[in-house]
This record gives sequence, C-alpha cells and structure tokens, in this order.
Amino acid sequence: MPKRTVLTVLTALTALTALTAFTGCNWYYDKVPSPDDLMKAIPWFDHMVKSRTVHPYARADLPRNTVPGTVPITGGEADWAAEFLSGNTATADRLVNPTVPDATLAQGDTLFHTFCAVCHGNTGAADSPIGRRVGALSLLTDKARGYSDGYLYSIVRYGRGLMPRYGDKVYRHGDRWAIVNYVRKLQAAAAPAAAMTSPTPPTSPSPPR
Ligand code: HEC
Repeated sequence: MPKRTVLTVLTALTALTALTAFTGCNWYYDKVPSPDDLMKAIPWFDHMVKSRTVHPYARADLPRNTVPGTVPITGGEADWAAEFLSGNTATADRLVNPTVPDATLAQGDTLFHTFCAVCHGNTGAADSPIGRRVGALSLLTDKARGYSDGYLYSIVRYGRGLMPRYGDKVYRHGDRWAIVNYVRKLQAAAAPAAAMTSPTPPTSPSPPR
C-alpha cells in the first residue's frame, strides 16, 4: 500500500472517531430528555423555570425608606415627648429603671462627662463656666433629688426648656439609664441638699474620674 493511502485512511478514521465522539455527546444532550425538561412540560411544575425575575434596585424612584414609626424587630420604645415637654410627668414617672446601678457607674461616668458636665459641672453642681451662662440647674438640689429615675431618663432623652435633648446622641437606652444612675451617685456623694441650693462651689471633692 502506498504511504499516501495509509495517511489518507488514518486521517479519515481519526476524523470519523472525533465526529462520532462529539455528535455522540451532542446527541445525548440534545435528544435524551432531562428530568427538568419533563417537569416543566407539565404546566403546574414550570414555576422554577418560568419564575418572574426580581431586580431589587431596578426602580430608583422607589426609595426603600422605613415608614415613620417603624421600630426594630426587637421592639421599640414608646414616644412620650409631647406629654413630657408639656410638663406632664405621668409616663416618665411610671418608667422602671431596669439596670443594676452599680454595674453601670463606669459607663455613666464617661457619658456624664461627655454630655452633661459641660453645663452641669463635674460634680453636678452646675458650676461650669458654660453652665452659668446658659442657666443650667444644679443636679444636687432637693428638687433634682426628688425627681424619679424615669424623669431623669426623660430629661436626658427629650431635654427641657433651655436644655437640649440628648436622646439622639445618647441613643442606647442602657446608656441613658447609666447617666441616671451616675447622677444619683453624684447626688449621694454631694453634701446634703440644703447646703447646695445657693450657687456656692461644691463642698465635696470631685468624684474619681
Ligand atoms: C447645653 C447645656 C446643658 C447640657 C449639656 C445638659 N443640660 Fe441639663 N439643663 C440645662 C439647663 C439650661 C437646664 C434648665 C432647664 C429648664 O430651665 O427647664 C437643665 C436642667 C436639667 C435638669 C433638671 C434640674 C431641675 O432642677 O429641674 C436635669 C435633671 C438635667 N438638666 C440633667 C442633665 C443631664 C443628665 C445631662 C446630660 C445628658 C444634661 N442635663 C445636659 C442645660 C444643660
């Protein structure tokens, strides 16, 4: 047999093998039905194949804002601003301090000196330079001692008169109660209230920082 014929036969054979292999594969995938194809042929099983595509950000004109009054799924806090700021302390006084005061003192110390001391002074006597200018009241008076914990919590949250609200800065409930507990500690540490009603410098040493 001439060399050339052998080459031609070999090439033809190779081509045939390749063709069979590929068409074999194609035939298998093209012609043998897959179970999925069978399922979707039945109309009420076709929802996986013909489902509606959802593009969450396809519509820019639909803002995904939460509606007013939305609360976290863990529950929210009621809003008694209108009542409290009108001078009615009923809801405020009903609040129960849920904390163990001693456990929050370090936290309360930091928070009080961050948010309150600028006006109410380091000891709560309202003897800071700014406190005098804005008319901040001493937290050591009989009146301030007489407020319920809930009242102090509410004044931190909503402010009162010239005092701005701090609820948006001290937004964790536990942090607000920590401040309440710290104010109580300042009151306990200070000299009896009678001596504090006049704007004299505090007689007690500063609390440990
Ligand atoms: C910008 C200054 C300022 C800051 C900061 C401030 N207060 Fe006041 N606070 C005031 C003023 C002014 C008043 C008097 C409000 C009024 O006339 O009703 C007041 C009143 C109070 C009273 C009522 C005292 C009373 O005898 O009726 C309490 C309690 C109080 N503040 C606690 C706090 C606490 C706690 C913080 C920190 C979260 C704080 N304040 C931060 C200015 C301030």
